Amino acid sequence: MSQEINSTNQNPAGDLLVVENLTTTFQTARGALPAVGGVSFRLGANEILGVVGESGSGKTVLSRTIMGLQPRTNVEVGGSVLLDGHQIVGATDEDLRDIWGTKVAMIFQDPMTSLNPVTKIGKQIGESLQVRLGMNKAEAKARVIELLTLVGIPSPEERYDAYPTQLSGGMRQRVMIAIALACNPTLLLADEPTTGLDVTIQAQILNLLDELQLKMKMSVILVTHDLGVVATRTDRIIVMYAGRIVEMGTTKEVFRNHKMPYTRALLESTPRVSNPSHTRLQTIPGRPPNLLKLTEGCAFAPRCSRATEKCSQERPTLEPTGVDGHYFACWNPLEDQAAPVSIQTGTIKEIGEDNVRG
Ligand SMILES: Nc1ncnc2c1ncn2[C@@H]1O[C@H](COP(=O)(O)OP(=O)(O)O)[C@@H](O)[C@H]1O
Ligand code: SF4
Ligand SMILES: [Mg+2]
Repeated sequence: MSQEINSTNQNPAGDLLVVENLTTTFQTARGALPAVGGVSFRLGANEILGVVGESGSGKTVLSRTIMGLQPRTNVEVGGSVLLDGHQIVGATDEDLRDIWGTKVAMIFQDPMTSLNPVTKIGKQIGESLQVRLGMNKAEAKARVIELLTLVGIPSPEERYDAYPTQLSGGMRQRVMIAIALACNPTLLLADEPTTGLDVTIQAQILNLLDELQLKMKMSVILVTHDLGVVATRTDRIIVMYAGRIVEMGTTKEVFRNHKMPYTRALLESTPRVSNPSHTRLQTIPGRPPNLLKLTEGCAFAPRCSRATEKCSQERPTLEPTGVDGHYFACWNPLEDQAAPVSIQTGTIKEIGEDNVRG
């Protein structure tokens, strides 16, 4: 069943991105694997949306499908991704080339897989300026120096001639951000942009993304398995489980008034400042479901302490709570409000009424 949402008043600023009943199914040797199982949401101009969920919940496949980056073979994409009036689902490579960079750009977890190790970083950033924006070599070089400065790379004139391997992990991620932002995209997809970096560098990169979002007036989709990363940086949050949205709402609503037991479990397994470092974090019992063997019921049922018979028979649909575009999919929603928590992510942030975005 699809997750249809009538979200007419969620984004008063206007919808830059409208995703409707999006499905991405891989044909594998062991059968059809529904990595994204019918996802619908809207994103406003200048909005920062967090997409969270455990590993394997479909975050990367969703992001790549929104970009139109899925390979053409052994994958079936259904539904609609309307980005600033452009339909991404079914778009030709030529259409997509017009959109990539200028409308939407993506940064990935590991910059080394995207950067060419044998090409100087200045050239890699400048390529799209020449090809896409028609700049000549000198104009492109001047703009690359500006971009290197913008993303906080010291001595940009010298670094222009550096190779990726001569830079630290954090600096390489800054180069990736410069490449992504070179043609002024209206939407930036950041897929685990700081996973694998040490906590101080993580915070610096996330702060940089915050600054750039404001400066460049972009919308951002920040994808992460770490709720601590999205707590203070996003306007709204989507929680994914087994390729579907199980809860979404403003950041404050999702943190304080979540209804879905999985959201509570994710929160309880996030490191907190209030937890002394020797305290063991609660982990979510059980394993994420095998997507090749999804049943008719709630995919979280085998791991859920609130599961009833109905849960294993019928999949809950997303229902509104009536507050600020807050939706949840659960037959036995939580009724208590979550306590304010302090979460540690690079820098320590106290999460309370005042400093959760949204
Ligand atoms: N090319 C592919 N072929 C088959 N299955 C895939 C492919 N890419 C991803 N998957 C599967 O899709 C599911 C979602 O993966 P992914 O989006 O990477 O999760 P996340 O980013 O949330 O960790 C996983 O079960 C993964 O194994
Ligand atoms: S629908 Fe049932 S199994 Fe699923 S999260 Fe809610 S209570 Fe748990
Ligand atoms: Mg991923």
